[in-house]
Amino acid sequence: MKFASALSSFFLVACANQAAAFSAAPSTKISSTSRIPVFTASNENIRSHTALNMAWAVDEESNTLTVTPIKSLDGTVTLPGSKSLSNRCLLLAALSDGNTKVENLLESDDIRYMLEALDQMKVPVERDPNDPTTVTVTGQNGPINAPSDEVCELFLGNAGTAMRPLAAALCMGKGKFVLDGVPRMRERPIADLIDGLKQLGADVSCVEETGCPPVTINADGLNGGTASISGKMSSQFLSSLLMAAPAATGDVTISIKDELISAPYVSLTIGLMKKYGVEVEIEGDMDGTPSFKIPGSAKYESPKSILVEGDASSASYFIAGAAITGGTVTVRGCGSESVQGDVAFANVMEQMGAKVTWAPESITVTRDPDVKLKGVDVDCGKIPDAAMTLAVAALFAEGPTTIRNVYSWRLKETERMKAIVAECTKLGATVEEFRDYCIIHPPKDNIVNDNVTIETYDDHRMAMTFSLAACAGVNVIIHDPGCTAKTFPTYFEMLESIASV
Ligand SMILES: *[C@@H]1O[C@H](CO)[C@@H](O)[C@H](O)[C@H]1NC(C)=O
Repeated sequence: MKFASALSSFFLVACANQAAAFSAAPSTKISSTSRIPVFTASNENIRSHTALNMAWAVDEESNTLTVTPIKSLDGTVTLPGSKSLSNRCLLLAALSDGNTKVENLLESDDIRYMLEALDQMKVPVERDPNDPTTVTVTGQNGPINAPSDEVCELFLGNAGTAMRPLAAALCMGKGKFVLDGVPRMRERPIADLIDGLKQLGADVSCVEETGCPPVTINADGLNGGTASISGKMSSQFLSSLLMAAPAATGDVTISIKDELISAPYVSLTIGLMKKYGVEVEIEGDMDGTPSFKIPGSAKYESPKSILVEGDASSASYFIAGAAITGGTVTVRGCGSESVQGDVAFANVMEQMGAKVTWAPESITVTRDPDVKLKGVDVDCGKIPDAAMTLAVAALFAEGPTTIRNVYSWRLKETERMKAIVAECTKLGATVEEFRDYCIIHPPKDNIVNDNVTIETYDDHRMAMTFSLAACAGVNVIIHDPGCTAKTFPTYFEMLESIASV
């Protein structure tokens, strides 16, 4: 099987359909007059949310946020770049032939440690003076070597997204390295990755007693070879081996000896490598015991510029918001060339009646006011996170919406099926719940109940999804809005910035 098999067929069909429609997304402006406070606290005892620059505040006593009626969503939002994709984009840029401008890096410790490590290894990284999220990396056209004969000591804090890929990639070059971090980093296992690298012939070790960093590397280039590793361990280990493999001189084969548990994450890595010109050959079933081959001839080529993708399921709120209100929203940070399957959610909105325009790194959504949203019946097995957003969009549609193949909802931190059924019901919908699907009948004339308090069950996606009910012209009271901090701390601020009342 080839690379294509790694991605869901849903996503590939989606891409094929849109191939003809690729065009630069029209950029819409946020009207300054629309910046009216949308979120208000329900009493005077308020505190502003840490680091958020917006008019909303939470009611501390009840720990709620009231989202006031939203008439329309219009504008451009850029999803914050994902942490692991930020560091992977930087590493692959460093291994590539040519210079790469990397945009939309997440501003976080993990990324700062990776950038400092590149500085220390004398990989030129030019910062954009006007934009801390943009850098240009001078590719080394092959592995990264130590800058001198001295031991190159890299301090990586608690940045697992830097430690693991670097531990693998630096085995491919030449020189002595020690990779270390804060005390917590010395408690985070890395032995399985070290074992895989040793099988490929690397002279690398971690602390034997703990199986944790510091990692010591005596690198002298690597011919490649075969490694057999567990697929039950962190997918980051497999991803790190895959990303390093093209820097070896010969063929590299990595096989899974038991079962691969996080196939979608591995597909994401393979998709990113493809953007840098390397195709991973996959043999066997991605959900079983696949093996991966990277031929010795495979070399990274700079894509010239790359926008670090945001979390594609986070795009679903803005995409649905535009479809629901008929406003025009451009979401930057995922698009037709996204490595994440969740962008297929835009196709579901299109099926409901929205107009979707795809660009390589952005998606623009609107709806003709004469076209009403219509209920749909879709298999959401490949997009379970974005499917939660569909449940709220269903409240605004004509006719019922059937969300199929979402048994995985029941296995999350929260029993998402029960949570969605309960909260949609409070808003006025009639929901039929089955083992692995549900049917949502919208409220009569799509009139959503006002002033409903939404329980969020410590589930960031519940908070974000259900805030869209305010598009029905009602107040929505979100309990524990701070739970969005897990993946998207600026969500409400961003929503407010494009909302008009
Ligand atoms: C919802 O709450 C607002 C503000 O407290 C109030 O003005 C409005 O009448 C309430 N709506 C309903 C339907 O109770």
